[in-house]
Amino acid sequence: MGDFVIRPYQSADRQSVRNICYETGFMGEPVDWLWPDKESFADLFTIYYTDVEPESAFVVEAISDDRTGDSRQPNKIIGYLTGCIDTRKIPSHIDIAFKHLFMRALPLRPSMARILWRSARDIVVDAVAMHTLLQNELIDPRWPSHLHIDLLPEARGKGVGRMLIDTWINRLVEVGSPGCHLRTLAENHNAIKFFETVGFSKWGDPTPVPGFRTRQLERMHVQSMVRPL
Ligand SMILES: CC(C)(COP(=O)(O)OP(=O)(O)OC[C@H]1O[C@@H](n2cnc3c(N)ncnc32)[C@H](O)[C@@H]1OP(=O)(O)O)[C@@H](O)C(=O)NCCC(=O)NCCS
Repeated sequence: MGDFVIRPYQSADRQSVRNICYETGFMGEPVDWLWPDKESFADLFTIYYTDVEPESAFVVEAISDDRTGDSRQPNKIIGYLTGCIDTRKIPSHIDIAFKHLFMRALPLRPSMARILWRSARDIVVDAVAMHTLLQNELIDPRWPSHLHIDLLPEARGKGVGRMLIDTWINRLVEVGSPGCHLRTLAENHNAIKFFETVGFSKWGDPTPVPGFRTRQLERMHVQSMVRPL
C-alpha cells in the first residue's frame, strides 16, 4: 500500500463499506463460510451507519501512484470506521434480522438454513441457561456512543486504525459525548489488544452470540469495551 487518506464517508462509498464489512466479518477474515447471505450481513452491521448517520462515518482511501489524466479510476476504499453518537437511536438488530427472515425468505434458502436454525436453538438454550433473552445494544449514559471499525488486510498494522479512532474521538469530543463503547467478538484477541492500546477497557463478561461458531465449531461470544472521554 502506498499513501492513504482518512476522509468523511460519502454516499458513493456505500458499496465499498458493505463489501469490506463482509470481507472482514469473521474477526478480520471473510464471513461467507459462516453467513452466506451478504446482503443481510451487510445490513445488520452497516445500514444504520451509512443510511441514517453517515456524518459519523469515515473511510480510508488508498492513494495509488499509477493514475494518469482523465482515465483516473476512483481510489480504492481499504477501511472504514462507522459510528453512532447516541446508541438509543439505533434500530434493533432483531428488527433488521426479521426483515430479511420474512421479506427475503432467508429460512427458505438452503445456504442460510444451517446458521438460522442454529441461532434459533442457541437463543432458546441461552434463555433457559441464563434466564435472559437476546442481548440488545448496550445503553449506558456513561458511554452512549459506539463504533465499528474494519480494515482490509493490506491496511492493517500501519497505524491506520489508531488514526481512525483518533478521528472518531475528536468528533465525539466536538459533539460533547461523555464516552464511547464497542462490541467485538471475545475470540478476536487481536482486536481486543488493539482497542486496549487505543484506550478502551473491557466492560462486563463476554456473552454468547447465537449461531456464531469458530472454525472448530466452538461457541463465540461478544465482549463490550468502553472508553470514557
Ligand atoms: C483491529 C484493526 C482495526 C486495528 O487497526 P490497525 O491499523 O491494524 O492497528 P494500528 O496499526 O493502528 O495499531 C494501533 C496500535 O495498536 C497496537 N496493536 C494493534 N494490533 C495489536 C495486537 N494484535 N496486539 C498488540 N497490539 C496491537 C499496535 O501495536 C499499535 O500500537 P502503537 O500505536 O502504540 O504503536 C485492524 O487490524 C482490523 O481491521 N482488523 C480486522 C477487522 C477487525 O477485527 N475489526 C474489529 C472488529 S470489532
